[in-house]
Amino acid sequence: MNLIFRKGLTLMTITAASLGCFADDIEINHLGPNHTYVRVKGDDKLLILPIQESIDDARINVLVEGKIDRTFYARLAKSKTDYTVPFDLSPYKGKNVILDVVANHSRASVREAQDDACWSSITLSDSFNTENREKYRPLFHHTPSYGWMNDPNGMFYKDGVWHLYYQWNPFGSKWQNMTWGHSTSTDLINWEHHPAAILPNGIGTVFSGSSAIDRENSAGFGKDAVLAMYTSAGDSQTQSLAVSHDNGETFDIYPANPVLALDSEARDPNMFWNPETKLWTLILAHPLEHEMLIFSSPDMKEWTLQSSFGKGLGAQKGVWECPDLFQLPVAGTNEKKWVLICNINPDGPFGGSGIQYFIGDFDGKTFVPETDAEGKVSTKWLDFGKDNYALVSWSDAPEGRRAAIGWMSNWQYAADVPTMQYRSANTLPLDVVLFKGKDGQTYASTTPAPELLKLRDKLIVNVGKAGIGAKSKVYNLPTSNSGVCEINLDIDPKKSDKVILSLSNTQGENVEMTYDPAAATFSFNRENSGIVDFSKDFPATTVAPTFGTTSRLSLRIFIDTSSIEIFGNNGRFAMTNLVFPNSPYTRLSVSSQGGKAEISNLKIHSLSK
Ligand code: FRU
Repeated sequence: MNLIFRKGLTLMTITAASLGCFADDIEINHLGPNHTYVRVKGDDKLLILPIQESIDDARINVLVEGKIDRTFYARLAKSKTDYTVPFDLSPYKGKNVILDVVANHSRASVREAQDDACWSSITLSDSFNTENREKYRPLFHHTPSYGWMNDPNGMFYKDGVWHLYYQWNPFGSKWQNMTWGHSTSTDLINWEHHPAAILPNGIGTVFSGSSAIDRENSAGFGKDAVLAMYTSAGDSQTQSLAVSHDNGETFDIYPANPVLALDSEARDPNMFWNPETKLWTLILAHPLEHEMLIFSSPDMKEWTLQSSFGKGLGAQKGVWECPDLFQLPVAGTNEKKWVLICNINPDGPFGGSGIQYFIGDFDGKTFVPETDAEGKVSTKWLDFGKDNYALVSWSDAPEGRRAAIGWMSNWQYAADVPTMQYRSANTLPLDVVLFKGKDGQTYASTTPAPELLKLRDKLIVNVGKAGIGAKSKVYNLPTSNSGVCEINLDIDPKKSDKVILSLSNTQGENVEMTYDPAAATFSFNRENSGIVDFSKDFPATTVAPTFGTTSRLSLRIFIDTSSIEIFGNNGRFAMTNLVFPNSPYTRLSVSSQGGKAEISNLKIHSLSK
C-alpha cells in the first residue's frame, strides 16, 4: 500500500512499510510537522486510537464528505501506547471520512511526525474489548467501560430502570470532550453500558445537569418525554435542553438552545416539576459568586429568576457546583424539610472536593435555611471522607425514596490515580434520610441502597461478642474476589479512650480507623494504605463526628478493591475514601487504648454479584 504525505508544498508518496504502518484500510497523510490526515477506507465499525497519557491532546476534526462533523481531542500516542480508545465510525458508513489531526508537539519536521507510535498501531476493528481487567477496578461500583468519568448527571428512574448519565471522556482517561455517558440498572448493582446519550455539539461540550419526566407535557414534546437540562460549555457556559422519546436512550437537542444564558459563569442545572406551583423549579450553580440561583418556568424554555441563595453562608472558598434541591420527611417527626445540596471544590472538609448541604424551607421561590440556637446557619457535610463529590439524586425514584450517587474521587488527584484504561467509579447508590441531631438541628444521613444486601455472599466471620484490649484481636477478611467484603460491627467503648480498627495486608500496608468516644469522632488514616505517592494530597486522615445518641458506635463498611465506604450510626455519618493497596487487605485487627472495650455483632460477608 502507498501512503501519501505532503512536505511543504511537495506531494510525496512513500510505502506503508517505510512508515511502519500496515493497515490496508487506513491512509495516513502527513501534511506538515504537526498536521496529519487519517483517511478511513475500510468499513469496520471502529477506529482504534492508541493513547499516551502523559502527552498533550491533539485536536481532531472529523471530516465527513469534506465537512466537519465533530471535533474531539485525544492524546494520540507519541513514544508509547498506554491504552487504546475506539472512535465509532458506524454513523458514517459508506461516506468519506478523514480525521484531520493537529498535534500539539511543536515539531520541526514531517519526519518526526511519521515516527509517532500511534501511526503504526492505529487500526480498524468491529469490536473493542472493555473487559473489567484492571487491578483497581471495583467489582460492584459503577465505572465507565473505558475512559474518564466525573460527575453523575441527569439520573431518573422509570419503569423499573435506574438511569445514570455521567460526565465522560470517551477518548482518554483524563478530563476532556465532556459527553453524557449512559448506564442503566434494574438492581443498582449490575450496570449495563449504553452508547453516549448527549454528545458535544455546536454550542459546546456537555457539562453536568439533570433529567425529569414531563408527566404534564408542560414543554410540549409529549407526555412522559424525558427532558434533560445541561450546561453547554463553549466559550461561555449556557443552559441547554434535550428531549428523549425513547426513555433516555437517545436525546434530541432542542434547536433553540440555549434556553438560559446569563452574563456570568453558571452551570449544572438541576430541575424538577413542582406540583404545588405547577411550574418547573431550576437550581443553578453560580460558582464564582458562591451562591445558587433559583428559577422557575412553565415550559422549560422561558425561565424567570426567583431568588439566589447562599452568599456568605456555609463553606465559601471553593466554587459552588452541582446543586440539588428536594424535600424529605424528618425521621421520627411530622416535619418535612428541603435539602439543598451544594457541591464545593476546593475547600471540602479535607481539602479539594466536598459535599456541603443546607436544610431549610422552600416555597417554590426562595430557600430559607434552618439556623442553630444562635441563629446561625451551620456548615454541614454529607460525607467526611475525601472521595465523594458531585453527589446528586435520582428524579422519580420509587416509594418516596431519595436515592443519590456521587463521583468517588477528588479533583485534587482524580487524573493521577493509578488506573489507566478507565478512571473513576461512582460511590455506592445511597438513600438520603433526614434526622434530628442532639442539637435540635436537622441533618441528612446516607445509607447504602437496600438493594445492596443482595451482594452478600458467604458469612466469613460471625462474632456475637468479644472483649477488646491493648492486644489486637485479628479477624480474617475474605480472600476471594480481591477481598471485596462488607463488615458490620457495634463498638461499646466502655471505659477505653480509643478503639482502633486496622485493615492490613501481608505487605505491611494498612488503613487505621480510630473511634474516640470522648470527642465523639471517627477517623480514617490512609497514609500507609498502599500506593499514595501519586499526589501530595492523597495521604491523609479524615475525621467524622459520630452523631451518636450514646457512646456506642455501629459501623457498616464496604470494601471494593480500591474504595472503603463507611456508614456510622446507620448513616448519620458517612466516609468515603479511595485506597490503592498493592495487594488486598486480608486482616481486620481491633484493639483499644486506655481500658477495655467490647465489640458485638461482628459480621464479615464476602460480596459477589
Ligand atoms: C464538577 C464540574 C461541574 C461541571 C463538570 C464538568 O465536578 O466541575 O461543575 O459541570 O464538572 O465536567
